[in-house]
Amino acid sequence: MKAIAVIPGKPNSVHLRDVPKPKLTDVPEGRGVLVKILRVGVDGTDKEINAAEYGAPPTGDDYLILGHESFGIVEQVGPNVTELQSGDYVVATVRRPGNSPYDRIGMYDMTTDDVYFERGINLRHGYLTEYYVDAPEYIIKVPQGLKEVGVLLEPTSVIEKGIFQAYEIQRRLRLWHPRRAAVLGAGTIGLLATMALRLRGLEVCALGLTKPPYLNSDLIGEIGGCYHSTKDVSLTESTKEHGPYDLIFEATGYSPIVFEAMNVLGKNGVLVLSSVTGGGRSIEVPADKINLGFVLGNKVVVGTVNANRDYFEIGVKDFSQAELQWPGWLPKFLTNPVKGLENYQELITSLTEVKGAIKVFCEVAPLS
Ligand code: BGC
Ligand code: ZN
Repeated sequence: MKAIAVIPGKPNSVHLRDVPKPKLTDVPEGRGVLVKILRVGVDGTDKEINAAEYGAPPTGDDYLILGHESFGIVEQVGPNVTELQSGDYVVATVRRPGNSPYDRIGMYDMTTDDVYFERGINLRHGYLTEYYVDAPEYIIKVPQGLKEVGVLLEPTSVIEKGIFQAYEIQRRLRLWHPRRAAVLGAGTIGLLATMALRLRGLEVCALGLTKPPYLNSDLIGEIGGCYHSTKDVSLTESTKEHGPYDLIFEATGYSPIVFEAMNVLGKNGVLVLSSVTGGGRSIEVPADKINLGFVLGNKVVVGTVNANRDYFEIGVKDFSQAELQWPGWLPKFLTNPVKGLENYQELITSLTEVKGAIKVFCEVAPLS
């Protein structure tokens, strides 16, 4: 079968190759699920892997099949699979367990191992191919009514984890009624975080670089959020109108803003950091001021990465609610479909070259 792969360590090595089709028996004890891939989204991580800044092949291979944002349909299940059946629409998690105690209880997204296994990213092949086989533990059923937007569930799982973690941490307060949130960054992750926070009843001020109006700022407005370009209103200035913030979700990829966010976070507030910043940037910060604000204000900052199946399930519920509350809103994310695995070059260049793209994704096979 066809697959889009890279040679990790070699810049711009993205190519189409022929790989063996996986077998149901690749998963032991009759627990295999064979999934036909329908759509796969791409993001900055794929761009970095193709630039050889990130990523490693599975042991024994010199190539890595790309793609971690999958959506597919179950074609066949092993005799001991009761959770899924053929015809089910599904999404698969990205990370696979290592050896830490967290890995052993299904919280592989919280691993303390130094090495981690992520499909399409690190040491495990991804989903930009025709089929995959995996165990049902890593596969989440998606209602038929969400099939069009199912490809957005992996990035959604990442924001759901961050927000769930924030609420979990804030149980320390016994009573926490967050009212005001800031979302930093208005790309796919920022938009999805805005959605999840609006669904939970918060006022949301989203900040991005681009001057409004544009598609992303329109989308934020359509669900009752507010958008500012930091060229017009800085995060600090935004607090005059929208703050103090009970929750700030950082998704810009620009680490210096983290310290400004720490500074403007409200008392008892929580700051969630989700940007994977691979660079080596250093800046000067008002250390005493930030520290004092944290101490006197009992503030929390938390980092978040990846997601286990619980967060995909929360994502499915939020999507269901979003489609009822704002019908047709989520499908507007699907700005850049690329037909067929053969068009791998277009898939990768769209990531950098198309202005205004929200989600670039490969239509591997038709939805029905
Ligand atoms: C993926 C996560 C992954 C992270 C770090 C992100 O693009 O969505 O699932 O854990 O990259 O590799
Ligand atoms: Zn990603």
